[in-house]
Order: sequence, then C-alpha cells, then structure tokens
Amino acid sequence: MEYEIICKRRLTKFTKIFITVTIALILLVTAIVLFSIEKFYGPQENENYKIAKTTPNSKKKINSLKNNSKIIFADMKDQNQEEKEIFIDETDEPEVKDAFSEISETNDTHQEDNSQELNIAEEELKIEDPEIVFQRDLRQFSDKKLVAFTFDDGPSNETTNKLLDNLDQYNARVTFFVVGSRVGANADALKRAYDMGNQIGSHTYSHKNLFKLDDSQIMEEVQRTNSTIKNIIGIEPTIIRPPYGNTNSEIRSIANMYTILWDLDTEDWKYRDTDKIVEYILNNVHDGAIILLHDLYDTSIDGALKAMEILEQEGYAFVTIDEMIELKNVSLNKDENYYYFDN
Ligand code: NI
Repeated sequence: MEYEIICKRRLTKFTKIFITVTIALILLVTAIVLFSIEKFYGPQENENYKIAKTTPNSKKKINSLKNNSKIIFADMKDQNQEEKEIFIDETDEPEVKDAFSEISETNDTHQEDNSQELNIAEEELKIEDPEIVFQRDLRQFSDKKLVAFTFDDGPSNETTNKLLDNLDQYNARVTFFVVGSRVGANADALKRAYDMGNQIGSHTYSHKNLFKLDDSQIMEEVQRTNSTIKNIIGIEPTIIRPPYGNTNSEIRSIANMYTILWDLDTEDWKYRDTDKIVEYILNNVHDGAIILLHDLYDTSIDGALKAMEILEQEGYAFVTIDEMIELKNVSLNKDENYYYFDN
C-alpha cells in the first residue's frame, strides 16, 4: 500500500519534470528556428518561408504585385474568368505602367523599350465582346493528311503579311507563336492573321531562356504576353511555345497553358535558304507533323509556301494547332509537351 503511493508520487514528479523539460526544449528549438529564419530571410519575409516551390525572393515580388490592386495574377489552378477581365479592364489605367516599370527595374536588361510598345497595345483595347472566331468547316479535311506550319518570333508587319497574302492559294491556315514585346509595333499583322482564322500562341514576352528566370519572372513573361495579345485580338492564347523549347513541369504549371513544341526543325533562321527548307520539309513530313519556321525571314515564307504547293498535291492539308487537335480528336494536358499529333 505505502509502496504503491510512493511509486505514484515519484511517477507524478518524474512526469512533471519530463513535461517541463520537453516544453523547454520545444521552446528552445522554436526560438532557434525563428532566429535563423529572421537572419536568413529578413523581417518581412517570414511568411514567404512557409510557401513551398517559390523562392522567397520571387514570392516577395509576386506579393508586391498582388498588393498593387491594379494587377491581379490569375490563380494558377483556377482560371477565373472574372479575375482575368478585371486584369484587362484595369490595364487601361496608368498605374499599371508604373507597376510594370517597377518590375523592369528589378529585372535585368532588355525591358527599357517595352513599356512604349505595351502602351500602343493598350490603346488598341476597344474590344468589349470578342467577335466570333473565324472557323473553317473541318469536314473538308477529314480524308487529308494534316500538317501544322508554325511560325515563331514574329509578328512582323512585313514578312508575316507576305505569308498571309498567300495562304488562301493553298487553303492553308497556320499558327503563330508571337513574342509579346513585338506585338505593339506589329499589331496590324497580328490582328489580320487572327481575323483570317490563323491561330495565335505565346512565345513569351521577351524571348528569354525560361530556365534562367525565377517563378515570378516566368509568370510575368506569360501574363504580360497574354494580356498584350488579348488587347489586340480580343482573346488570350491558350498555347505556348517557350523559347528554345526550354520548359519543365514547373514552368508548365506556372504558364498554365498547353505547351506545343515541334518535330520538324527546318533551321530556317540559320541557313536562310528557301530550297533547303523545302527539301527538309518534303523529306521529313508526315501526317500530324508540327513544322517549326520563323516568319521574320523572306526565305522562310517562300520555303513554307513552296512546300505547301507540293504537299497539297500529295494530299496534305494545312491546319492550325486547334484544328489539328479537333481533327485528330485528341485532348491536351497542360503538363505535357506536344511535338506532333498521332491519330
Ligand atoms: Ni524563338
């Protein structure tokens, strides 16, 4: 009896000591952790430390953009239409330009001249309801082999227009992956291309290697391009081709678009040789191919048109990426790269 009581008392005492020591240890560890966070990330960024995937630095930039009520970044997982509309509506206001020039200062080089181009694009924002998109009757292509000609690095009021002048000859529509910073100065060609029924995709704002940018810079490259394009044609692009084809699952997740790469690389920009382009295309073409060209060079335009002339005789039809997807009856996944389309 006595023995048991003593035992219980000792146990209680021991338990109390144990709990006290444990609490003290937890407090100590917490203090150490908090202190190191403070030391490494500075006072304002404790919050950011808890957010996975983005670096504290990039998160800080995103937060500072979010805090500026004029800019709304659509949630990556939730493409909320309302948010997008607010974003576009408010780009009319001068504060946005200030916000963008702030970003430019924190980034490296190249964006000095972009704000002016952006202004041109913003002035064109008159579209309330985008017109119903020009759509071709795809039944005419049901027994054809399909190929998607894609043109990067434009638009250009000169060379892109030259291509557009000739597409009807081959009943062709193509896809343009445009560089956002070029859109303002070449808006006529972009609008004409879209109105004709060609597809517009994003090739980012300033054609940088996305592997070298942090998350907030990637997001800016994507969002800024999409809103610039929407200002001209009335809708945002749904497809993206990252410069150099450099992408990974994190970049795809930030962009939240469909990633379209290519399987026929004509290297047109390197050789600037019409015959070489035609020869390469004819030797490698297949049903479902995606051909990479650049609409900045006359030789590329001529090569594409010549190839179309010959391929038309071989039973090919020339379609946009969206048309190809519909005709091939495939559904795209945002976390994949597409190089060509099978049946
Ligand atoms: Ni490019």
